[in-house]
Amino acid sequence: MFEAILARRSVRAYAQDKIKRATVQTLLEAAVHAPTAIHEEPWAFVVVQDRQLLKQLSDRAKPLFVGEALHRNSQGVRHSFEHFTKPDFDLFHGAGTLIIICAKPLSQFIAADCWLAAENLMLAACDMGLGSCVIGSVVSTLNICTVKSELGIPDEYSAIAPIIVGVPKEETAAPPRKEPLILAWKQ
Ligand SMILES: Cc1cc2nc3c(=O)[nH]c(=O)nc-3n(C[C@H](O)[C@H](O)[C@H](O)COP(=O)(O)O)c2cc1C
Repeated sequence: MFEAILARRSVRAYAQDKIKRATVQTLLEAAVHAPTAIHEEPWAFVVVQDRQLLKQLSDRAKPLFVGEALHRNSQGVRHSFEHFTKPDFDLFHGAGTLIIICAKPLSQFIAADCWLAAENLMLAACDMGLGSCVIGSVVSTLNICTVKSELGIPDEYSAIAPIIVGVPKEETAAPPRKEPLILAWKQ
């Protein structure tokens, strides 16, 4: 398990291979075994494997995300989003499968539940030799009413954690991590 935790990478280059239905189902099985506050299991999933739809989503999300990022930058957050403005840039990095973890607003912990499910899914993908990456930059777009209806996300659900999955095209180097910052250790 520890090896899998260290081996998981955000993969941003994928081969053309389409992930099989049974594989996606195994990943969802891993996701629903995450811890869940008051055993609510608030999650539900939308799987997108239609490349044309993925392109439309990417094209729609890029300007919205850049607009939001510029707004945050004007408030002092500094990060370059220049590549998001390029017409050829694919927000989904060429992956052919997008799994959107959605939830009904049942409790204050639905986001926590969904992100824990997301990590389970990504670790399982890694164990199966697949790459994955959270695509936070598409969340706002996924929650636009018309987009939800196109994707089959019912009104009462919100899209929380979008994750791409696919066969990695190449090795991804591990980005550095800071040492754990221990604020206090009282004993
Ligand atoms: C909430 C969240 C949103 C993210 N959104 C994006 C994204 O929109 N696009 C992307 O390429 N990576 C995204 N990532 C991946 C991070 O950039 C990545 O996890 C980080 O650089 C560390 O790399 P690692 O996952 O390989 O350890 C996101 C990660 C998280 C947790």
